Amino acid sequence: MQTFPSGFLWGAATAAHQVEGNNVNSDLWVLEHVEPTLFAEPSLDACDHYHRYADDIRLLASLGLNTYRFSIEWARIEPERNRFSLAALDHYRRVLAACHENGVSPMVTFYHFSSPRWFAAMGGWENRAAGDLFVRYCERSAQHLGNLIDFATTFNEPNLPLLLRWISNIQIPFLTVTRMQSQASRAIGAKRFGCFLLGDAYKLRDAMIPAHLRARDAIRSAPGNYPVGVSLAMQDEQAVGERSKRDRKCAEVYDPWLEAAGKSDFLGVQTYTRCRVGKNVDLGPEPGVELTQMDYEFWPEALEACLRYAATRVSVPIYITENGIATSDDDRRIEYIRRALVGVFNAIESGIDVRGYIHWSLLDNFEWIFGYRPRFGLISVDRQTQERIVKSSARYFGELAQTNRVPDLAAFL
Ligand code: GCO
Repeated sequence: MQTFPSGFLWGAATAAHQVEGNNVNSDLWVLEHVEPTLFAEPSLDACDHYHRYADDIRLLASLGLNTYRFSIEWARIEPERNRFSLAALDHYRRVLAACHENGVSPMVTFYHFSSPRWFAAMGGWENRAAGDLFVRYCERSAQHLGNLIDFATTFNEPNLPLLLRWISNIQIPFLTVTRMQSQASRAIGAKRFGCFLLGDAYKLRDAMIPAHLRARDAIRSAPGNYPVGVSLAMQDEQAVGERSKRDRKCAEVYDPWLEAAGKSDFLGVQTYTRCRVGKNVDLGPEPGVELTQMDYEFWPEALEACLRYAATRVSVPIYITENGIATSDDDRRIEYIRRALVGVFNAIESGIDVRGYIHWSLLDNFEWIFGYRPRFGLISVDRQTQERIVKSSARYFGELAQTNRVPDLAAFL
């Protein structure tokens, strides 16, 4: 039986806005409730994880997982500019304590897409003060929480706006976006509404790379002694024919952030699929390839390819901080996990320092503009009763975790 290196992290991830529920002071909550909106439905109670975190963490541990990746919510911790809520910080201390009580290592994301309303009102990341404000929020949070944290990342997928610019087969309804933003600024009585997911990708990059490096230092100098990294959105970019467009895409979308990750304690890789890049445009899914509920190609091998790409750019340890599939067919999730993990093992065998695999997601949850339809969870959630139902994939994944075992490539379902 082949096993992963000892100490390998086996985890599942969530993000505050997607699971906690009633994140009413966030910019996304505003966008969900204006008309027109890009959001298929509002997040509302989500998984009520804000109140049910203790049961959810116990469930995660009972599966055999040893790591929980979650985000703390800026909109709760700093509800008004320069006003910090000790009650909100204490809430996250209790979440961290629940992890330790269950023998689970917490990995904390400081920023997972959502911001406070007041930050949106100043123009978000495009305001010159944004970096200072973010660093101060990180510093205050790390001061309060640091001695209970085991791993931290500053940003979740800060390169996503750059990646979205290149995905030319997505049709973004610009008119709806503009109207949504102007309705949102009206709703909060502001002149502007700057939001991470809608911002100018280049301005965001120029603001967020230095903010990451400064936040890393602020977090490191607070109590506790744990690695601080950054998680990036990565696809296996496959050139079809001419390679130069693919190379330019990688140079723009990944390389500057990989350089920043290389100056941190670790890189978080987050991969879901591959992308075929043609001479001029991304080509979209190949006819005949199975699609997931996100219309991504079912391509678990993408993860190994991304690890290999990342390893050509960074020499810090790598954790897979997200990998998963949206499907209502749980057998396909099992197959996806199996093949993805074989790829992770191959990467480790060839000398790449991969130290953990954290699946997205612990729970079926609020998938941003797509609402609750895509099912990424190892555990399903009844939207009326909030009952949690453990899927077979969770048991399969948990069994691998308990034995630290590499799945058998020859196995079939
Ligand atoms: C992202 C986020 C997650 C998503 C996940 C599935 O990549 O958008 O980190 O919040 O839910 O990736 O799309």
